[in-house]
Formats: sequence, structure tokens, C-alpha cells
Amino acid sequence: MSLLKAYFALLFLLCVNVFAKKDVNGDFYVGRNQMIYRTEELSQEKFLAYSPLSNGTHLREAVKNILVPRVVGSAGHTMVRDYIASDLRDLNWNVEIDKFHETVPILGKLHFHNIIARLNPDAERYLVLACHYDSKYFEEFEFLGATDSAVPCAMLLNMAHVLQEALEPFRNSKLSLMFIFFDGEEAFKEWGPNDSIYGARHLAKRWEDDGTINRLDMLVLLDLIGAADPTFYNFFPNTEAWYSRLISLEERLSNADMLDHYISNGISRQYPNRYFQPNTMRSSFVEDDHIPFLKRNVPILHLITLPFPSVWHTKDDNESIIDYLATENIARILRLFIMEYLLSSQHNE
Ligand SMILES: *[C@@H]1O[C@H](CO)[C@@H](O)[C@H](O)[C@H]1NC(C)=O
Ligand SMILES: *[C@@H]1O[C@H](CO)[C@@H](O)[C@H](O)[C@H]1NC(C)=O
Ligand SMILES: *[C@@H]1O[C@H](CO)[C@@H](O)[C@H](O)[C@H]1NC(C)=O
Ligand SMILES: [Zn+2]
Repeated sequence: MSLLKAYFALLFLLCVNVFAKKDVNGDFYVGRNQMIYRTEELSQEKFLAYSPLSNGTHLREAVKNILVPRVVGSAGHTMVRDYIASDLRDLNWNVEIDKFHETVPILGKLHFHNIIARLNPDAERYLVLACHYDSKYFEEFEFLGATDSAVPCAMLLNMAHVLQEALEPFRNSKLSLMFIFFDGEEAFKEWGPNDSIYGARHLAKRWEDDGTINRLDMLVLLDLIGAADPTFYNFFPNTEAWYSRLISLEERLSNADMLDHYISNGISRQYPNRYFQPNTMRSSFVEDDHIPFLKRNVPILHLITLPFPSVWHTKDDNESIIDYLATENIARILRLFIMEYLLSSQHNE
């Protein structure tokens, strides 16, 4: 994740924007190449069918498998990569490893591997969800990175498991689902344009050159998720209508009493205590894996907890920080979002 300086600049922005409540009930979404998509609510029947789906046992298992030190080039890194790839291959996803090498500060020449998993390898367009699976190198201690980003990656694997049946129709549809597990998000020495997001920079460039980038409908990037009471914001006007679907789904699930311990300690999650905040930040200093794609005009949803979890880039970002109830709630909202996107965007084909 980006510089501390940027973090404080952002907190300042946050204060400015919190009171500028925006109307987010947009129905239309202007996508790539100015195509206009209509967002459509999940039918009540589908909402009732998908909402109860979950598997907390599997989520914990996935976290356990990823939550080891996994600095690029280490044995843990290889282990986690193999785990992610084989877990999705077992579910019949098409998995590609995008391999390259680069010389980095401190550790020298390293081999990087982005993991790209496609539900339908022949689809024309993709909704993309992404996280980074490398962990940050620290000289003084072994960093585990539960929120950064073992939990987000586990959430993606868990989503593929939980929605296995529901996603069946999208194995041969024109619009399908893609997961990217980026490598080398973290800086080795100091965050900067040449020392950070190695995998994302490589992949965006490669896909610009071969045209694949035009097939990405939207990139939904998950980062720093897993601690208690996360809050999210929208950053980009062109994805506001989709972001507003997250707000609506949170509300719909809450009204249906489908969010666990959503009301805790007698405090109800009315605004401003909701997960998905109704504000757009018109500018953001949070640099992350989405940047090389944003620069190439890919619509972005950046789902990163703001403010950052208090354990950010410390040895305390470990298993003990994980709030599984909140994580499951976010995962539940995201699963419905995926289904709503895939189903309603099908009508736009
Ligand atoms: C949940 O996940 C666990 C562990 O992967 C698996 O053994 C179990 O069968 C799953 N439960 C359901 C209902 O799918
Ligand atoms: C990053 O690398 C490019 C190309 O090697 C170089 O031109 C640029 O000055 C570097 N930027 C920084 C901030 O180090
Ligand atoms: C995990 O984090 C907690 C605090 O959140 C800390 O007390 C504990 O020492 C950490 N465990 C390890 C193994 O570093
Ligand atoms: Zn980080």
C-alpha cells in the first residue's frame, strides 16, 4: 500500500467529503468505449436464493493456507501460488500464470507470477475481481499480512466455491468472471513508481499491447479487508452507479436480516456506520494495483478499507485481527453484487 504521507492526505480528504452526501441512485452506467449499461436489481427470487449461501469453514481454511510469509521469491510465496492455482483449477476455472522477472531494490533479480483465473476462457468481456497475494518484505520481522491481502484473496477463492452452482451459466457466456491475484504489489524498499505494483504494471502493459485490456468491463480491487468495522468509499465517477449497487445490496441484506451481528453492542449500522459509505471522493492518493489499469481507462471499483486498518504494515496484521463476521458480511454483499452484475449486464449484450 502507498505512502504514509498519502495516507494522511487522504484522511484529510475524507473529512472534507463525509458531509458532502451525494445522490447515488443512478440506474445507468457508462462503461468502456462510452457504452451505456443499465444496472438492474436482482429479482427477489434470486436474492432469496443467493443470500443464504456461505461457507465460513472454507473461508477460514483458505485464509489459513494463504496466511504465511509470502515475499516474492520465497518458499511460502510458491506454496501460496500453487494453492491458489490448484484450488481454482479444481473448480474447473482456467488458470494462467503470467511470469516475468525484474530486478528490485534489496532482493535483486526476482521472478514474479500473476495468477489469472477465468471462469470462461473464451468470453468476450470480463468482470474482474482482484487482490495481491505477495506479502511485504520487512528486514526486522516476518510480516503475515492478514488484511494485506490474505483475507481479500481468500474471499475470492471462497466466492468461487460458494457460488459454484450459481456461476455455472457463466462458463459459456459472452460476459464472464475473471480473478487476478497480482504479484509484487508491495514495495521492497520505498513505495514509488518503480518500486511497487510490479505485477499490475506488467500485466496492464502486456494487455494493452495485445488488446486484452479492452475486454475488461470493470476491475474490482479488494485490499486491506479483514479487520472489524471496515468502511469503503467510491473514488471514481464513472463507476458510481455500480458502487451504488453495493450500498443498495448492503441495505437490502440488512433489511432481510441476512447480515450476521450487523447490529452489535446495541449500535445499529445506520449511516455513518454502514460498510459502504455513500460518498465519492473526487480524488484519491491511494496508489494500488488498479493504477496501471486506471491509466488505460479501465473502470475501477477500489474496495479498500478507509481509514486503513490500525495494524497496517505491522506484525500485528495477523490472524488475531481478523473479524470473520464482518468479513463474511462483506463477502455476502460482494457475492450478490457479482451475480447482479453478471445477470443484469447479460441483458446489455
Ligand atoms: C464448506 O467447506 C468445507 C471445507 O472446504 C467443505 O468440507 C464443506 O463440504 C463445505 N460445505 C458445504 C455446505 O459446501
Ligand atoms: C523509474 O524508472 C524509469 C525508467 O527506468 C526512470 O526514467 C525514472 O526516472 C524512474 N523513476 C523514479 C522515481 O525512480
Ligand atoms: C498477532 O497480533 C497480535 C496483536 O494484534 C499480537 O499480540 C501478537 O503478538 C501477534 N502474533 C504474532 C505471532 O506476531
Ligand atoms: Zn501492504
